[in-house]
Amino acid sequence: MEVPIVELRQVSKTFEDVRVLDALDLTVLPGEILTIIGGSGTGKTVLLRIILGLIKPDSGQVLIEGTDIAPMREGKLLKVRRKLGMVFQGSALFDSLSVGENVAYALREHTRLSEVEIRERVREALALVGLEGIEEKEPAELSGGMRKRVAIARAIALVPKILLYDEPTTGLDPSNVEKINELILDLNRKLDVTSIVVTHDLKSAFRISDRIALLSQGKIAAIGTPSEIERSRSSLVREFIAGALGF
Ligand SMILES: Nc1ncnc2c1ncn2[C@@H]1O[C@H](COP(=O)(O)OP(=O)(O)O)[C@@H](O)[C@H]1O
Ligand SMILES: [Mg+2]
Repeated sequence: MEVPIVELRQVSKTFEDVRVLDALDLTVLPGEILTIIGGSGTGKTVLLRIILGLIKPDSGQVLIEGTDIAPMREGKLLKVRRKLGMVFQGSALFDSLSVGENVAYALREHTRLSEVEIRERVREALALVGLEGIEEKEPAELSGGMRKRVAIARAIALVPKILLYDEPTTGLDPSNVEKINELILDLNRKLDVTSIVVTHDLKSAFRISDRIALLSQGKIAAIGTPSEIERSRSSLVREFIAGALGF
């Protein structure tokens, strides 16, 4: 049995009487692309934020490479967070900063690299997402697909071990959806990372995943390879698939 790179044990989180996560268990294996699917408001973003240490669970353990980050204070957490890159829902670029400064953001926050080194890292990160030489552009000048790529470049600038994507294809047209899916697959191999992708886009989940996990009622209701999920007899899985495909 492989040692998980991320493991959630009995993680619970309640907001104002609503139990969003309810003793949730999840293991993520090194190098895999794990997609978490689930309806709107089921807690997918909360789950990613708990893995990042941005939200503290009420109880349970959040193990990153075997170390529980749940009880950690901010100083120690910052060190662990360097291992993780996050592509936020809706890209969340800083509109007042150029593309280059957006990608450089984490490098300036977390490293003491020189200006020359930062520029080189930014160039490399943009090249990896297929956007060379756009450092001076403003985010507002870019299409939705390009903004998403810049958000991915920003997430990989610190060379993370684990890449988290929150709804990376939402709001994109079909050709950009396919390009972003290919990019997620490509980066997973090239950067030798583990990818955790949250989406309600079932087609994309089947396209990119090594394993798919269904989040429902605060727990991982089912987990398996795409073909296992496709053949699952669980009524929760069948209902989600039918709903997502519009039946
Ligand atoms: N910071 C917060 N304060 C209060 N409620 C929150 C907070 N973050 C999320 N929630 C609630 O938790 C539930 C799950 O939210 P979320 O994880 O964003 O769902 P989704 O699966 O759509 O990403 C929602 O009911 C949401 O309103
Ligand atoms: Mg969300």
